[in-house]
Amino acid sequence: MSHYLGIDLGTTNSAVAALDADGRVEVVPNTVTGHPTTPSIVYFQEQTDVAVGDIARNAAVAEPENVISLVKRSMGEAVSYPIHGIEHTPESISALILRHLYEDARSTLGRDDNGVVITVPAYFGMRETQATVEAGTLAGLNVLATIPEPIAAALHYGRTPGSGEGTLLVFDLGGGTFDTSILRIGADAIDTVVIDGDRRLGGADWDRRIADWLIDEFCARTGCDETDLDAGFRQQLLQQTEAAKVQLSQVSTTRVPIRFGAHAAAIELTREKYEELTRDLLDRTIAIVRRTLGTAAGKGIDQADVADVLLVGGATLMPAVTRRLRAEFGWEGKRVDPHLAVVKGAALYAASLRTAQGGEPVLSLPTVRKVLPRSFGVRLDRETSSRREDLYIEYIAHANDPLPITDRRLVTYTKIADVSEQAFHLFEQNADVPSPVVALNREITPDDGFVFTGLPSLPQGSPMTIVVNVDEDGLAHVEAYEDTTGQRLQTQVQLGVLQQDQLAELEQAVAQVELLH
Ligand SMILES: Nc1ncnc2c1ncn2[C@@H]1O[C@H](COP(=O)(O)OP(=O)(O)OP(=O)(O)O)[C@@H](O)[C@H]1O
Ligand SMILES: [Mg+2]
Repeated sequence: MSHYLGIDLGTTNSAVAALDADGRVEVVPNTVTGHPTTPSIVYFQEQTDVAVGDIARNAAVAEPENVISLVKRSMGEAVSYPIHGIEHTPESISALILRHLYEDARSTLGRDDNGVVITVPAYFGMRETQATVEAGTLAGLNVLATIPEPIAAALHYGRTPGSGEGTLLVFDLGGGTFDTSILRIGADAIDTVVIDGDRRLGGADWDRRIADWLIDEFCARTGCDETDLDAGFRQQLLQQTEAAKVQLSQVSTTRVPIRFGAHAAAIELTREKYEELTRDLLDRTIAIVRRTLGTAAGKGIDQADVADVLLVGGATLMPAVTRRLRAEFGWEGKRVDPHLAVVKGAALYAASLRTAQGGEPVLSLPTVRKVLPRSFGVRLDRETSSRREDLYIEYIAHANDPLPITDRRLVTYTKIADVSEQAFHLFEQNADVPSPVVALNREITPDDGFVFTGLPSLPQGSPMTIVVNVDEDGLAHVEAYEDTTGQRLQTQVQLGVLQQDQLAELEQAVAQVELLH
């Protein structure tokens, strides 16, 4: 019998777990270092010679221009990484990480698999989730589904002794993203009540803050000129900073030896100083927890109902996190496998999907019910006025609506007579609260990414109905009908930022790469 695979595609570290026929979940260590996780770093030795993981991390100091890290932060954005003559994107770089992880795990497991589940931050919107699925496809993987990281962690937590039913808050601070989730854990189901977060807040921000301070101190002491410091030096300093940060979770003071050319100094960093320099970052997590509790209160769940707090992600190992949660909310957070809970949960989810699809049950798991992370809607035009507020968002579904969402309808009208084609734009909430104003939302279909064709000849102002379904993974599927005849219109929807031809090009670029294992 073959495996069910879960892949945690992390901002800084990734991992693979497999569930075997006996229902055991094992993390598959990487074959380079034997560690359970692999750095999410990609090194292009040549256009088609690529290393992922520790080798890439080591290359970052000598050849920073050929190394890409923290790519998950840019997932779903229209950015490109020109490298050895190829325009890579966050999707193609992630595809290389996924391919590496998959091939490496297969070399250990040596058997077929039933497809993979890839994790995404709970607060990823539609575009980032779509980009993650596209990364999996570019890597040639059979992506069964994505799963929000906190839910994956809760699935694993639910199988550990001592965990019970009730309301669980997951505080997930990883290398690049911060997620909060309130989940209702029952015997048969895990229901998501609220998700919130900040996709640009994680351990890497703590590292940058400290590295900036170390540079200031270093130059003040040695008289070096900050503008002379090169990218390789900064990479090395970031790696040293991260190591110092990890040490400070255990000890109260450490020294960071720094050398640049003829300048050298060993700079002392105390935990107290470290916490002072990064306090505002931790404040941001606390503010989001409060906002999460506020949303939950609107759904009838109070802070007193939170029975357990699960700490997930490597950055929750900072002592300041537990201390602050205790001081602000009186919580004693629980840590269950903070580095690996997510990947183990993803493998469990892969198995439970098979069971739900009528496959042979491998083990009994609760049904997972997810919610939509962000409100989204269609941009409509109130009238042909040039005032921006007349372009507004008509919401189709709201943040924290349970998934799947079926058959949401919206009636709109043709703007001019006899058009055969009409384009619409899907927009997603981009600020803390949904806004009807276009500028506070971001487009999730690129220009002409959502087009209806084949309209019959109609007078101006003829009604059309847009029907939207959102699947379990939070991705929209749209169709449209012309109301007078009821005729279904041909629809093309493109959710991700990559155009079809770009996808085909990248697929080829990824396939041509020789991965150094
Ligand atoms: N003992 C520790 N003390 C403080 N920070 C730590 C410790 N161990 C790991 N970290 C930090 O945790 C972060 C990595 O955590 P993790 O592996 O959970 O994140 P990730 O999965 O890569 O990111 P994300 O989930 O945000 O995509 C890094 O910033 C790392 O420096
Ligand atoms: Mg993670």
